[in-house]
Amino acid sequence: MQLSIDQSTLLCRLLADASRQRILLLLEAEALSVAEITQITRLSQGRVSTHLSRLRAAGLVTDERVNNVRHFRANLGDPEDPATGLWQTLRARIDDQQAEFDREKAREAVRRRHAGTSWAETVAGRMERHYSPGRSWEANARALLGLVSLGDVLDIGSGDGVVPELLIERTRSMTCADISPTLLRAARSRLQNDPRARFLQCDMNALPLAPASFDQILLMHVLTYTLTPERVIANAARLLRPGGTLLIATLDKHEYGIAEETFDHVNQGMSPATLQGELERNELAVDWCDIACQEGRPPYFKVVVARACKRAGH
Ligand SMILES: C[S@@+](CC[C@H](N)C(=O)[O-])C[C@H]1O[C@@H](n2cnc3c(N)ncnc32)[C@H](O)[C@@H]1O
Repeated sequence: MQLSIDQSTLLCRLLADASRQRILLLLEAEALSVAEITQITRLSQGRVSTHLSRLRAAGLVTDERVNNVRHFRANLGDPEDPATGLWQTLRARIDDQQAEFDREKAREAVRRRHAGTSWAETVAGRMERHYSPGRSWEANARALLGLVSLGDVLDIGSGDGVVPELLIERTRSMTCADISPTLLRAARSRLQNDPRARFLQCDMNALPLAPASFDQILLMHVLTYTLTPERVIANAARLLRPGGTLLIATLDKHEYGIAEETFDHVNQGMSPATLQGELERNELAVDWCDIACQEGRPPYFKVVVARACKRAGH
């Protein structure tokens, strides 16, 4: 089969990828499931699936179902096929230690599979990175909300209402406050049938609300949109009722321009120590204030989560 220049360029691009070459070498030795390939290569499950579907579309990989699990295998049968021919040419020259390690791990994975290791056992310690039917972060969050009971809630910088929609069932009232009419419109359409929802277009730096009127206040991923986060925190403290709770999620202090250039942030986050200082300055009792998680891809942003309560009598 002859190729046009465009087709041959696409083919070169397909194989000009270290992860795809690694996967092909791996699947020469053993037929493996996505979970096994993910476990062996430590690539994310999404990336493994994308690589496999591209290799499969080029005819370099086939799959078959074994006990309801799809197993993938390299398909190098037809040297007349352009993709196979090109890969075989490259393949004959590859001698790579990583590929050797991968193959050893693949043999181990197959041994475990045949020894009756369950799916859950194969992902022990990394289950949050793997798919299993129905077990999504959203499903877990919605289920765990059953443990939560809230009063009058104010979500400052509520965006298009994702968080209010999640919580509203558990509240007495939910006030969505945002500077953007577009986002408030989207929030309104998400929550339109719920009588507990209220909407307020305002600037978080000057909230037109009465002191001590909320039981819970949320500042979720909004403090990076103000030049005066300390003023926003002071205002939130003022709006809380005694015994009320302020919950904050924000970026840890960082130095990456992408947050400002692409996401319109106006400051570069706050360290847990600085945030804790601000909360205490406003006479809030800090339950916890720390790095809660770190993203798994560059530039590896860290998220600070804080929970603080307004003491009775303040
Ligand atoms: C990253 S989004 C977070 C939305 C929401 N809190 C969430 O976690 O899904 C930031 C939100 O802050 C809002 N925002 C930015 N500057 C603001 C300001 N000065 N006052 C009120 N809201 C503001 C934006 O319109 C946007 O909806």
